[in-house]
Amino acid sequence: MEIELQKISLDNKDALNNLMQFYLYDYSDTDKRDINTWGRFEYEYLDSYFSEDESRVPFFIKLNDIIVGFILINNYSIISEDKNVKSIAEFFVMKKYRRIGIGSAALKKLVSTLPGKWEIKVNKNNEGALSFWRKNLLELTKGKYLEKYLEDEKAQVYVESFEI
Ligand SMILES: CC(C)(COP(=O)(O)OP(=O)(O)OC[C@H]1O[C@@H](n2cnc3c(N)ncnc32)[C@H](O)[C@@H]1OP(=O)(O)O)[C@@H](O)C(=O)NCCC(=O)NCCS
Repeated sequence: MEIELQKISLDNKDALNNLMQFYLYDYSDTDKRDINTWGRFEYEYLDSYFSEDESRVPFFIKLNDIIVGFILINNYSIISEDKNVKSIAEFFVMKKYRRIGIGSAALKKLVSTLPGKWEIKVNKNNEGALSFWRKNLLELTKGKYLEKYLEDEKAQVYVESFEI
């Protein structure tokens, strides 16, 4: 299985925007987001991934050259002021490609290409994703990752942090 991470160029912004629809549709079970009057989900940070802000990087996950998902990263940490922390803002594998190790392979590639401090926020109700992160982080860090539970009136989340 040949998994590749490809930085998404401005030319492919529309492709990411299209893929984002599937992600947000899937995720609307968890975050209860509604569509706009054109029937589309809006992702308010899309433009910022194609701006001068170099800390925001969008990647396609490709399997044998086919786009099967995406990962968006930024340097927005919710548990630390450290601007060197990289956060995984969004992580998506298309339904038909799930549970065959693509997400795990993409994550390994990501953190080995960009070693350092990492963070990921997972909604408490997103049980599949929580299992995915816990399993992978246990393996990748040999158990040396931190998990913090945070809640406010809007959301209940687990924040996983680790260094590779
Ligand atoms: C979470 C997600 C990225 C996982 O991708 P994936 O390619 O299916 O993950 P993998 O095949 O590498 O899974 C590795 C392990 O994680 C765990 N896991 C993954 N998805 C799971 C699920 N839905 N339920 C329970 N455990 C799960 C399993 O232990 C799995 O190993 P196994 O299949 O041998 O049991 C994918 O389900 C997805 O895109 N979900 C929708 C978007 C989302 O919630 N993203 C995360 C935001 S924090």
